[in-house]
Amino acid sequence: MTNPSILILPGDGIGPEVMDEVRKVITWYGDKRGLTFDVSEDLVGGAAYDKHGTPLTDETMDKAQSVDAVLLGAVGGPAYDDLDFSIKPERGLLRLRKEMDLYANLRPAQCFDALADFSSLKKDVVAGLDIMIVRELTSGVYFGEPRGIFKEGNERVGVNTQRYTESEISRVARSAFELARKRNGKLCSMEKANVMESGVLWRDVVNEVHAAEYSDIEVSHMYADNGAMQLVRDPKQFDVIVTDNLFGDMLSDVAAMLTGSLGMLPSASLGAPMENGRPKAMYEPVHGSAPDIAGQGKANPCACILSFAMALRYSFDQGAEADRLEAAVEKVLADGVRTPDLMQSNDGTPATTIEMGDAVIAALESSL
Ligand code: IPM
Ligand code: MG
Repeated sequence: MTNPSILILPGDGIGPEVMDEVRKVITWYGDKRGLTFDVSEDLVGGAAYDKHGTPLTDETMDKAQSVDAVLLGAVGGPAYDDLDFSIKPERGLLRLRKEMDLYANLRPAQCFDALADFSSLKKDVVAGLDIMIVRELTSGVYFGEPRGIFKEGNERVGVNTQRYTESEISRVARSAFELARKRNGKLCSMEKANVMESGVLWRDVVNEVHAAEYSDIEVSHMYADNGAMQLVRDPKQFDVIVTDNLFGDMLSDVAAMLTGSLGMLPSASLGAPMENGRPKAMYEPVHGSAPDIAGQGKANPCACILSFAMALRYSFDQGAEADRLEAAVEKVLADGVRTPDLMQSNDGTPATTIEMGDAVIAALESSL
């Protein structure tokens, strides 16, 4: 039997630093749990642009298509702000999502007990929070045509198109219903059916899928603006939320911050099953490249480490080992190890990125 394969794409900014810590975790699983992965590495984003003049080469795209899972750090940075849109670092990420057809983006927002004080919301509003946002990731206004900046008379007009087909909606709805079935049996779908036809269709299709296949799940619908408000008012009313690409981008940032720090939140982007039965998959932290703190050892590696935990769960069928890794991160937090994003002013010396990673390894050791 060959080992499962992972392609690591550290990317830009804090991506390489946090990925170094994930590499330690991967090595630990090989050494201590007999879970050996064939790990390869390549460039994406600004790092790929610097070397090849493109944020993702065709060779890297082919590799990503051929492995069992991709782990991505982060892309982007101010050095690339003036690049043409077609070669910006973000295009590398979007190409991976689109060509691998990773239509279901799972963004859990979980509030760790040790961090409940860090939320900008009152502790009792967020303590114990555990919700899952399922964001459609390959369509909608991110990819719809026509798009561009055009000349109309004597002024320019910027155009993007929100477009969803029934099958694009139904497949992500199914992913969300399946998750709801494994969790608390509740799904809330968010769109703007009050102003957008694509939202009207979204709601219809979610209802059709519900009636035909998931009538055991309690389904509800919200306009996305109300959803944003409800997320900050009373986030624990939700279990699984399903929404489109753009609303999902925004709502998942809101949900992430409820938990205290973007530095804690992982994500999984899943597509259809491959020949070996595993889903096409890419795992990445929800946070960005954070250029302001890059290279200073200040970045929190937990979101990226927890993204690997999601890989264990969703790609490699290692739910118990994923639990082990999540518990290790929880223990580290409970022990008070904190990168700067997890500290209020004046509460001790922060841990570096490397120290945080080492603490997770130590907690894994102590779990044996
Ligand atoms: C995210 C990010 C990306 C997005 C950017 C980096 C293109 O914000 O994954 O949420 O908008 O999807
Ligand atoms: Mg985003």
